[in-house]
Amino acid sequence: MLMRKVGTIIDNLRKGEKAPDRHENPYLKEAIGLSEYLLTQAELGEKYSSLFTDMTKPIVVEIGCYMGKTVLELVENNKDKNILGLDITYKRVVKAARKLKRNHLDNGRIAICDGMAFLRDIVPDNSLLGVCVFFPDPWPKERHEKNRLLKADFIEILFSKLSPQGFFWFKTDHEQYFLETQKKVLHSGFISDDEKDFTPRSKPQNIQGDSYETAFQKLFTMKGVPFYQRVFIKP
Ligand SMILES: C[S@@+](CC[C@H](N)C(=O)[O-])C[C@H]1O[C@@H](n2cnc3c(N)ncnc32)[C@H](O)[C@@H]1O
Repeated sequence: MLMRKVGTIIDNLRKGEKAPDRHENPYLKEAIGLSEYLLTQAELGEKYSSLFTDMTKPIVVEIGCYMGKTVLELVENNKDKNILGLDITYKRVVKAARKLKRNHLDNGRIAICDGMAFLRDIVPDNSLLGVCVFFPDPWPKERHEKNRLLKADFIEILFSKLSPQGFFWFKTDHEQYFLETQKKVLHSGFISDDEKDFTPRSKPQNIQGDSYETAFQKLFTMKGVPFYQRVFIKP
Protein backbone atom coordinates (compact mmCIF):
# COMPACT_ATOMS: atom_id res chain seq x y z
CA MET A 1 0.00 0.00 0.00
CA LEU A 2 1.60 3.26 -1.18
CA MET A 3 1.25 5.96 1.44
CA ARG A 4 3.04 9.23 1.87
CA LYS A 5 3.55 11.50 4.85
CA VAL A 6 3.27 15.00 3.49
CA GLY A 7 3.37 18.52 4.89
CA THR A 8 6.31 18.08 7.25
CA ILE A 9 8.13 21.16 5.92
CA ILE A 10 5.11 23.30 6.83
CA ASP A 11 5.02 21.62 10.26
CA ASN A 12 8.66 22.62 10.78
CA LEU A 13 8.16 26.16 9.51
CA ARG A 14 5.17 26.64 11.82
CA LYS A 15 7.39 25.55 14.70
CA GLY A 16 9.80 28.36 13.72
CA GLU A 17 12.39 26.19 11.96
CA LYS A 18 14.06 27.34 8.74
CA ALA A 19 13.17 25.62 5.48
CA PRO A 20 15.98 23.75 3.72
CA ASP A 21 17.34 25.95 0.90
CA ARG A 22 15.88 23.84 -1.87
CA HIS A 23 12.45 24.35 -0.31
CA GLU A 24 12.60 28.16 -0.19
CA ASN A 25 9.49 28.74 -2.27
CA PRO A 26 6.73 31.35 -1.95
CA TYR A 27 3.98 28.77 -1.37
CA LEU A 28 5.65 27.47 1.77
CA LYS A 29 5.91 31.00 3.18
CA GLU A 30 2.27 31.67 2.34
CA ALA A 31 1.25 28.39 4.01
CA ILE A 32 2.30 29.77 7.40
CA GLY A 33 -0.27 32.56 7.19
CA LEU A 34 -3.04 30.21 6.06
CA SER A 35 -3.07 28.08 9.21
CA GLU A 36 -6.79 28.61 9.84
CA TYR A 37 -7.68 27.03 6.48
CA LEU A 38 -4.68 24.86 5.62
CA LEU A 39 -3.57 21.97 7.80
CA THR A 40 -0.75 19.50 7.46
CA GLN A 41 -1.32 15.76 7.71
CA ALA A 42 -0.04 15.76 11.32
CA GLU A 43 -2.24 18.73 12.26
CA LEU A 44 -5.27 17.12 10.63
CA GLY A 45 -4.76 14.04 12.79
CA GLU A 46 -4.53 16.14 15.95
CA LYS A 47 -7.37 18.56 15.23
CA TYR A 48 -9.81 16.49 13.19
CA SER A 49 -12.50 16.38 15.89
CA SER A 50 -12.62 20.21 16.02
CA LEU A 51 -11.68 20.98 12.41
CA PHE A 52 -14.74 23.04 11.49
CA THR A 53 -16.58 25.85 13.27
CA ASP A 54 -19.77 23.75 13.44
CA MET A 55 -18.90 20.07 13.84
CA THR A 56 -22.57 19.02 13.77
CA LYS A 57 -22.60 19.43 9.97
CA PRO A 58 -21.86 16.27 7.93
CA ILE A 59 -18.44 16.12 6.28
CA VAL A 60 -17.73 15.65 2.56
CA VAL A 61 -14.12 15.11 1.44
CA GLU A 62 -12.55 15.64 -1.98
CA ILE A 63 -9.38 13.57 -2.33
CA GLY A 64 -7.05 15.13 -4.92
CA CYS A 65 -8.63 18.59 -4.78
CA TYR A 66 -5.91 20.20 -6.94
CA MET A 67 -6.19 24.02 -6.64
CA GLY A 68 -9.59 23.95 -4.94
CA LYS A 69 -12.01 24.86 -7.74
CA THR A 70 -14.50 22.14 -6.82
CA VAL A 71 -13.99 22.48 -3.07
CA LEU A 72 -14.89 26.15 -3.38
CA GLU A 73 -18.07 25.30 -5.33
CA LEU A 74 -19.05 22.61 -2.84
CA VAL A 75 -18.42 24.95 0.10
CA GLU A 76 -20.42 27.83 -1.39
CA ASN A 77 -23.38 25.68 -2.47
CA ASN A 78 -23.59 23.48 0.62
CA LYS A 79 -23.47 25.70 3.69
CA ASP A 80 -25.20 22.93 5.67
CA LYS A 81 -22.15 20.70 5.17
CA ASN A 82 -18.45 20.83 5.99
CA ILE A 83 -16.12 20.31 3.04
CA LEU A 84 -12.51 19.12 3.32
CA GLY A 85 -10.14 19.08 0.32
CA LEU A 86 -6.96 17.01 0.34
CA ASP A 87 -3.96 17.11 -1.95
CA ILE A 88 -0.28 16.27 -1.72
CA THR A 89 1.59 19.25 -3.22
CA TYR A 90 2.36 22.53 -1.47
CA LYS A 91 1.47 24.76 -4.41
CA ARG A 92 -1.96 23.15 -4.95
CA VAL A 93 -3.06 23.18 -1.32
CA VAL A 94 -1.90 26.78 -0.83
CA LYS A 95 -3.84 27.91 -3.90
CA ALA A 96 -6.90 26.00 -2.66
CA ALA A 97 -6.72 27.37 0.90
CA ARG A 98 -6.21 30.89 -0.45
CA LYS A 99 -9.62 30.68 -2.16
CA LEU A 100 -11.34 29.75 1.13
CA LYS A 101 -9.58 32.47 3.11
CA ARG A 102 -10.37 35.14 0.51
CA ASN A 103 -14.07 34.31 0.84
CA HIS A 104 -14.06 33.79 4.66
CA LEU A 105 -15.64 30.34 4.24
CA ASP A 106 -15.77 28.61 7.60
CA ASN A 107 -17.32 25.36 6.32
CA GLY A 108 -14.27 24.60 4.15
CA ARG A 109 -10.77 23.36 5.01
CA ILE A 110 -7.79 22.11 3.00
CA ALA A 111 -5.09 19.71 4.13
CA ILE A 112 -1.84 18.56 2.60
CA CYS A 113 -2.51 14.92 3.26
CA ASP A 114 -2.42 11.55 1.53
CA GLY A 115 -5.98 10.35 0.91
CA MET A 116 -5.36 6.79 2.05
CA ALA A 117 -3.56 7.87 5.23
CA PHE A 118 -6.46 10.22 5.98
CA LEU A 119 -9.08 7.50 5.65
CA ARG A 120 -7.09 4.81 7.41
CA ASP A 121 -5.57 6.76 10.30
CA ILE A 122 -7.71 9.86 10.93
CA VAL A 123 -11.40 9.35 10.12
CA PRO A 124 -13.69 7.42 12.53
CA ASP A 125 -15.71 4.56 11.03
CA ASN A 126 -19.21 5.26 9.66
CA SER A 127 -18.72 9.02 9.86
CA LEU A 128 -18.38 10.70 6.44
CA LEU A 129 -21.34 11.86 4.36
CA GLY A 130 -19.37 11.62 1.15
CA VAL A 131 -16.03 11.19 -0.59
CA CYS A 132 -15.31 12.60 -4.05
CA VAL A 133 -12.43 11.42 -6.23
CA PHE A 134 -12.36 13.30 -9.52
CA PHE A 135 -9.91 12.41 -12.30
CA PRO A 136 -7.32 10.62 -10.12
CA ASP A 137 -3.96 10.12 -11.84
CA PRO A 138 -4.71 7.15 -14.16
CA TRP A 139 -1.20 5.63 -14.26
CA PRO A 140 -2.01 4.21 -17.71
CA LYS A 141 1.08 1.99 -18.13
CA GLU A 142 0.54 -1.54 -16.84
CA ARG A 143 3.72 -1.51 -14.76
CA HIS A 144 2.53 1.68 -12.97
CA GLU A 145 -0.99 0.48 -12.16
CA LYS A 146 0.15 -0.30 -8.62
CA ASN A 147 0.35 3.47 -8.04
CA ARG A 148 -3.37 4.02 -8.57
CA LEU A 149 -5.31 5.45 -5.65
CA LEU A 150 -8.48 3.42 -6.17
CA LYS A 151 -7.32 -0.08 -5.39
CA ALA A 152 -9.28 -2.76 -3.49
CA ASP A 153 -7.77 -1.87 -0.09
CA PHE A 154 -8.62 1.82 -0.54
CA ILE A 155 -12.21 1.02 -1.51
CA GLU A 156 -12.66 -1.31 1.45
CA ILE A 157 -11.48 1.37 3.89
CA LEU A 158 -13.56 4.02 2.14
CA PHE A 159 -16.68 1.85 2.59
CA SER A 160 -16.02 1.48 6.32
CA LYS A 161 -15.57 5.26 6.82
CA LEU A 162 -18.78 6.39 5.10
CA SER A 163 -21.95 6.70 7.12
CA PRO A 164 -24.96 4.61 6.00
CA GLN A 165 -26.36 6.30 2.87
CA GLY A 166 -23.00 8.02 2.43
CA PHE A 167 -21.76 8.49 -1.13
CA PHE A 168 -18.64 7.90 -3.20
CA TRP A 169 -18.63 10.16 -6.27
CA PHE A 170 -16.11 9.15 -8.93
CA LYS A 171 -15.14 10.72 -12.26
CA THR A 172 -12.39 9.75 -14.66
CA ASP A 173 -11.47 10.07 -18.33
CA HIS A 174 -9.85 6.63 -18.26
CA GLU A 175 -12.38 3.99 -19.34
CA GLN A 176 -10.46 0.96 -18.08
CA TYR A 177 -9.82 2.62 -14.68
CA PHE A 178 -13.53 3.46 -14.50
CA LEU A 179 -14.71 -0.06 -15.31
CA GLU A 180 -12.23 -1.77 -13.00
CA THR A 181 -13.01 0.61 -10.13
CA GLN A 182 -16.74 0.25 -10.63
CA LYS A 183 -16.41 -3.53 -10.40
CA LYS A 184 -14.39 -3.29 -7.17
CA VAL A 185 -16.74 -0.71 -5.65
CA LEU A 186 -19.88 -2.77 -6.32
CA HIS A 187 -18.10 -5.91 -5.11
CA SER A 188 -17.25 -4.24 -1.79
CA GLY A 189 -20.91 -3.56 -0.91
CA PHE A 190 -21.74 -0.22 -2.50
CA ILE A 191 -24.80 0.10 -4.72
CA SER A 192 -25.01 2.44 -7.67
CA ASP A 193 -27.17 5.51 -7.07
CA ASP A 194 -28.90 4.78 -10.38
CA GLU A 195 -30.18 1.40 -9.22
CA LYS A 196 -32.42 2.98 -6.63
CA ASP A 197 -34.74 4.77 -9.02
CA PHE A 198 -33.22 4.06 -12.45
CA THR A 199 -32.33 7.71 -13.01
CA PRO A 200 -28.67 8.25 -13.88
CA ARG A 201 -27.32 11.05 -11.74
CA SER A 202 -24.51 13.48 -12.38
CA LYS A 203 -24.12 14.29 -8.67
CA PRO A 204 -25.25 12.92 -5.30
CA GLN A 205 -28.86 13.72 -4.39
CA ASN A 206 -27.92 15.62 -1.24
CA ILE A 207 -25.33 17.87 -2.93
CA GLN A 208 -26.64 21.29 -3.97
CA GLY A 209 -25.24 23.30 -6.87
CA ASP A 210 -25.10 22.83 -10.62
CA SER A 211 -21.89 22.52 -12.50
CA TYR A 212 -19.10 20.76 -10.63
CA GLU A 213 -16.96 20.81 -13.73
CA THR A 214 -13.54 20.14 -12.25
CA ALA A 215 -10.33 21.71 -13.59
CA PHE A 216 -9.31 18.48 -15.34
CA GLN A 217 -12.83 17.84 -16.60
CA LYS A 218 -12.75 21.26 -18.25
CA LEU A 219 -9.47 20.43 -19.99
CA PHE A 220 -10.78 17.09 -21.26
CA THR A 221 -14.05 18.61 -22.41
CA MET A 222 -12.17 21.31 -24.35
CA LYS A 223 -10.17 18.57 -26.10
CA GLY A 224 -13.33 16.52 -26.82
CA VAL A 225 -12.15 13.66 -24.56
CA PRO A 226 -15.10 11.73 -23.04
CA PHE A 227 -15.26 11.03 -19.32
CA TYR A 228 -17.15 8.63 -17.05
CA GLN A 229 -18.78 9.33 -13.71
CA ARG A 230 -20.93 7.57 -11.19
CA VAL A 231 -22.30 8.03 -7.70
CA PHE A 232 -22.15 4.97 -5.43
CA ILE A 233 -24.04 4.66 -2.15
CA LYS A 234 -23.23 2.71 1.01
CA PRO A 235 -26.54 1.00 1.80
C1 LIG B 1 -5.23 14.54 -12.24
S1 LIG B 1 -5.37 15.57 -10.87
C2 LIG B 1 -7.15 15.91 -10.79
C3 LIG B 1 -7.43 17.13 -9.97
C4 LIG B 1 -8.92 17.48 -9.72
N1 LIG B 1 -9.58 16.46 -8.93
C5 LIG B 1 -9.65 17.72 -11.00
O1 LIG B 1 -10.50 16.89 -11.36
O2 LIG B 1 -9.42 18.77 -11.61
C6 LIG B 1 -5.13 14.46 -9.51
C7 LIG B 1 -4.82 15.16 -8.19
O3 LIG B 1 -4.75 14.18 -7.15
C8 LIG B 1 -3.66 14.50 -6.29
N2 LIG B 1 -3.25 13.26 -5.61
C9 LIG B 1 -2.54 12.23 -6.14
N3 LIG B 1 -2.37 11.25 -5.22
C10 LIG B 1 -3.00 11.67 -4.09
C11 LIG B 1 -3.16 11.12 -2.79
N4 LIG B 1 -2.63 9.93 -2.47
N5 LIG B 1 -3.87 11.82 -1.87
C12 LIG B 1 -4.39 13.05 -2.17
N6 LIG B 1 -4.25 13.62 -3.39
C13 LIG B 1 -3.57 12.95 -4.33
C14 LIG B 1 -2.62 15.07 -7.24
O4 LIG B 1 -1.66 15.86 -6.56
C15 LIG B 1 -3.49 15.90 -8.20
O5 LIG B 1 -3.69 17.22 -7.74
